[in-house]
Amino acid sequence: MKGVILAGGLGTRLYPLTKITNKHLLPVYNKPMIYYPLQTLINAGIKDILIVTGGNNAGDFLRLLGNGNEFGLKHINYTYQEGEGGIAAALSLAEFFADKDKICVILGDNIIEKNIRRAVEAFEEQREGAKIMIKEVPDPQRFGVPILDGDKIVKIEEKPKVPKSRYAVTGIYMYDNTVFEIIKTLKPSDRGELEITDVNNAYIERGQLTWEVLDGWWTDAGTFDSLLRASQLVAETGANKLD
Ligand code: DAU
Repeated sequence: MKGVILAGGLGTRLYPLTKITNKHLLPVYNKPMIYYPLQTLINAGIKDILIVTGGNNAGDFLRLLGNGNEFGLKHINYTYQEGEGGIAAALSLAEFFADKDKICVILGDNIIEKNIRRAVEAFEEQREGAKIMIKEVPDPQRFGVPILDGDKIVKIEEKPKVPKSRYAVTGIYMYDNTVFEIIKTLKPSDRGELEITDVNNAYIERGQLTWEVLDGWWTDAGTFDSLLRASQLVAETGANKLD
């Protein structure tokens, strides 16, 4: 399986920290944010990785990561997202890279404690469709929220005012290569973006979405509070520990 890290967008919620650099280059405890999703993919056994970035500081990713030698990689692929068209728009740039393979996508601001290797291996065995990772959180209204009927996710609502479950859809998604056909059918949401939640709902409608509860802690790092929390969690317990 190939890996895709989405590290575009303008990070406006972290302004002025993001005035002169990309959000994913900001420190989370003792490392730049982008290190964590990169290590997450590598720990899961994924070595063929594309980073989608954007904004004025895209060149800094190359200076920071190069070919990924520090991570034991021989090569990293990069591509550039113009503007801030949304997570699904950023993912559409991975079509050529994915070729016909399945992909494991991680948002560049998502940091986790444990290894997702077992879920990745389970998705290797899944004939078709998609898999998402969900996690119980105290503030689901900040995220995509799954509506559950027994053990089935029947719909995902993006940042609902009144969440219908206590779970967040984390920024770790696994897709077969029909994802790119789905993205081409999407229309921009009220916030003017192509939403990854619409992609996941399309898989639900096809009856092809599986899910797992993520083991260990999970946080995004895209707001001042979650950025601070991410640093505290990493400082206290470390991230991306191997099982
Ligand atoms: O963190 C998980 C949440 O991420 C999910 O629960 C939501 O369903 C999903 O929509 C997303 O929510 P956010 O509103 O927090 O996403 P945000 O706009 O902060 O973008 C998250 C990452 O996605 C960002 O760090 C880089 C990447 N991204 C985002 C946009 C808008 C891109 O690469 N390009 C983009 O245009």
